[in-house]
Amino acid sequence: MSETQSLKHLIGGEWVGGDCGLESLNPSDTRDVVARAPNDDGTAMRAAIGAAADAFPSWSGASPELRSDVLDRAGALILERREALGRLLAREEGKTVPEGIGEVVRAGRIFKYFAGEALRRTGITVDSTRPGVECATYREPLGVFGLITPWNFPIAIPAWKSAPALAFGNTVVLKSASLTPAIASAMSAILQEAGAPKGVFNHVFGGAAAGNALVGDSRVAGISFTGSQSVGRGIAKLAVERQARIQLEMGGKNPLVVLDDAEFDRAVNCALDGAFFASGQRCTASSRIIVTAGVHDRFVTALAEKAAALKVGDALDPATKIGPVSSEGQLKTSLDYVGIATQEGARLVTGGEALKLDKPGFYFSPALLTDTKQDMRINCEEVFGPVASVLKVKDYDEALAVANAGEFGLSAGICTTSLKHAHHFRRNVRAGLVMVNLPTAGIDYHVPFGGTRKSSYGPREQGAAAVEFYTLVKIAYSWA
Ligand code: UN1
Repeated sequence: MSETQSLKHLIGGEWVGGDCGLESLNPSDTRDVVARAPNDDGTAMRAAIGAAADAFPSWSGASPELRSDVLDRAGALILERREALGRLLAREEGKTVPEGIGEVVRAGRIFKYFAGEALRRTGITVDSTRPGVECATYREPLGVFGLITPWNFPIAIPAWKSAPALAFGNTVVLKSASLTPAIASAMSAILQEAGAPKGVFNHVFGGAAAGNALVGDSRVAGISFTGSQSVGRGIAKLAVERQARIQLEMGGKNPLVVLDDAEFDRAVNCALDGAFFASGQRCTASSRIIVTAGVHDRFVTALAEKAAALKVGDALDPATKIGPVSSEGQLKTSLDYVGIATQEGARLVTGGEALKLDKPGFYFSPALLTDTKQDMRINCEEVFGPVASVLKVKDYDEALAVANAGEFGLSAGICTTSLKHAHHFRRNVRAGLVMVNLPTAGIDYHVPFGGTRKSSYGPREQGAAAVEFYTLVKIAYSWA
């Protein structure tokens, strides 16, 4: 166990607010209080929005080199401190230390990438149909962006929303998840250290009251949110009503199709990684594994064996492969869905239990359910834990139909050696991300990201796509 951090909001370059209201616990050992943070009722949020609005004219009007340098330094500091930050992340969120370090590196790289993008805010010129008239487009920042981020990627997601917002000249108010304030605050401190001018980046801790104050405020030009579908829908209503921009990344029920002709070991490893790594707490997790009949039984046996062999334990223990789930609520949800699935007729082949280890934590053994049908709740609702179900199908056509069922459409994968089926799947599966012979989770930091249907709403995040959300295209005509 180590010290309990006492966190404050970051508003206008000052650390403010008392350390009461929110408490983040180490999910591997709940006796360990990682941090205490204030729980804003909307007051700090309004002050943060004011600070961001005041900072906007000089930040947006400055040389892009200034923005590039701040982001580059922030990225370098994050990368330099990857070990300590990765451990803090593992202690606070529950993913293992290698997973935590991997996420921290991703966050650092994102800042580096957008340091370059800050210099590439470009427009186009178009020849007018009218002789003597010049037409050109500019990309302009919009103002203050409100960023609402989840606990499962508690530094990477704040990074991938704030880096492009800042790169293109906007200012930011971040409301990070209540379960993981310490690692998010570490990123905010690094942005200050990297030279972000006062008020350019602000960070407020709180729940729904703080979130509503952010989404409903007319000084906020846009909201980028990652989290649950129900919260996302509420944000959309409030934001669209006042004509704010929105970008929502919500849940998934991602299919991984395994065909008879798949390279067997690779397919098993894709399923194992996609379903259970990071304790299944990724919106891109493979929660529906759709397997054709010829390989089904052999595949289930191999996957169950490998899942059972994954060591569940303290996220900080180097021997651990699967850390705890992040909270008591997440543990209950995973247990509940295993119960719901078995009542509906599914067979639990491994895991699915709360584990009592030598310390009090939210430990859960990776659960694999077979004999499931697409219309069962386990195949329609997101669990967001290490729980995967297998659906047996007769051939590729049925696999594609099952993959496309349900309301979500974030990520979809296929394991096959057939070029024909791989190509057909890439073009016909209804998902924003398609993976061939790769897990459904685990994405590159410099490539666009996003889903379709109930998973996502609004423009894509990350990579070259981020500019669409964080800038406005102005169209200029002139005659001289
Ligand atoms: C990944 O699969 O590497 O919240 C990223 C999430 C997603 C990000 C997944 N927005 O899980």
